[in-house]
Amino acid sequence: MLEHLSARPLRAARKVRRPGVAFSPPLGEASLSQRGHTAKLVARSVSRLQGRVRAPGDKSLSHRALMFGAMALGETTVRGLLEGEDVLATAAALRSLGAEVAHERELSRWRIRGFGVGGAREPADVLELGNSGTSARLLAGILASHPFTSFMTGDASLRRRPMQRVIEPLTRMGARFEGREGGRLPLAIIGTDELMPIEYRLPVPSAQVKSAILLAGLNTAGETTVIEPEPTRDHTERLLRHFGAEVRIASADGGGKRITVVGWPELKGRDIVVPGDPSSAAFAVVAAAIRPGSDIVVENVGINPLRAGLYDTLRDMGADIAFENRRELGGEPVADLHVKGGALKGVEVPPERAPTMIDEYPVLAVAAACAEGTTRMLGLGELRAKESDRLASVSAGLAANGIKHEMGAAELVVHGTGAPPRGGGLVRTHLDHRIAMSFLVLGLASRDPVAVDDGSPIDTSFPGFALLMGDLGARIEAA
Ligand code: S3P
Repeated sequence: MLEHLSARPLRAARKVRRPGVAFSPPLGEASLSQRGHTAKLVARSVSRLQGRVRAPGDKSLSHRALMFGAMALGETTVRGLLEGEDVLATAAALRSLGAEVAHERELSRWRIRGFGVGGAREPADVLELGNSGTSARLLAGILASHPFTSFMTGDASLRRRPMQRVIEPLTRMGARFEGREGGRLPLAIIGTDELMPIEYRLPVPSAQVKSAILLAGLNTAGETTVIEPEPTRDHTERLLRHFGAEVRIASADGGGKRITVVGWPELKGRDIVVPGDPSSAAFAVVAAAIRPGSDIVVENVGINPLRAGLYDTLRDMGADIAFENRRELGGEPVADLHVKGGALKGVEVPPERAPTMIDEYPVLAVAAACAEGTTRMLGLGELRAKESDRLASVSAGLAANGIKHEMGAAELVVHGTGAPPRGGGLVRTHLDHRIAMSFLVLGLASRDPVAVDDGSPIDTSFPGFALLMGDLGARIEAA
């Protein structure tokens, strides 16, 4: 179906990229909210993958390392930072708030001189956050506790995403917001340095909402508590402690956790090493798992149990994944993932596992399409609030490639036959990096090539994706 497309190697295609996107910070100009180009990409079947690669830095931890460094006094250095567009948007925003954030290329590290808790200055212009929900929600928490008005916006995807989930608790603390209908961006944040501490029970399992409240609580007198009925990634808690904050964690009545931050800590600059991102490693791991005969190692991957649900699920499906060379890096458990390809079988993925693999369902759907039997994924309501309505985007992508499935309000059921899927589709990515990468992985295992209409959002989280996959033997090219 795609045979008529002339494939240019991606390296050549890079020459026509908008300059300054993934590789040359700083970012943050107005152009971030208006993606200036699209890049159609195509992936073709490969017999097997082989080799050793290193996962790019963890996106969640990279945002937090920069933000907490900005709220600390003294100098913070960060090695292994993800230099993707989302994290660069955070870096640019922090500069606008008065932090010194510098990339010391020759030392392979980033250096931050912070403004201290409560010490940000009023930004002179609108904060441009591109595609990054983590930047928008966590910065909303920081800005709410400062006595000035700031404005944020982002690309078409971010301007569609729900912000009411952070506006509601931060309003209870005493901040005010003006946004579009439903609290959507562009958003004005009218902060105050006299926030009231609250105790807040999360209505949705969201590490971003939890983090926004805890960060507002840093510049608030007394104790601010978030109750999370279902555990979500705990990077904020771990890293805030590392910077010197008092963060108390206890069991909540009726189940779940009470997380309390004590206001006005003196955060001190630290040296941070960011491990590789399990959500990015997922693409190489699934690609190898669905190609029998593959044998790859992805080095330096964070395996925090609150992020590792995909790996449990793939093992349930029969995948051969070994965590080798386990160690600690930057306060997080890390391993090298050794993956051998083979036959997979369908499984049921329980709803309580969703927060530990929330970003991995698109690529799990690809694994399910290549497995034998039915895979039922439950409790997926939050997928509708991601960079795109991911449930709808995955369903459309599966349909375009001839894969039998059913989508419900919060579930996805994929029927695999164990044989390579038909492929041959053109998948719409809707400014969603993970939709782009997931369906390119499908193309590595399907009979006909799979194309995505716009691979440019991949740079938000995984600059160099196609080259890294190429190092393993994959063929992903500009179409
Ligand atoms: C993130 C939390 C998750 C995840 C996102 C990163 C974070 O979002 O999907 O990619 O860094 O805290 P939610 O908090 O909306 O679940």
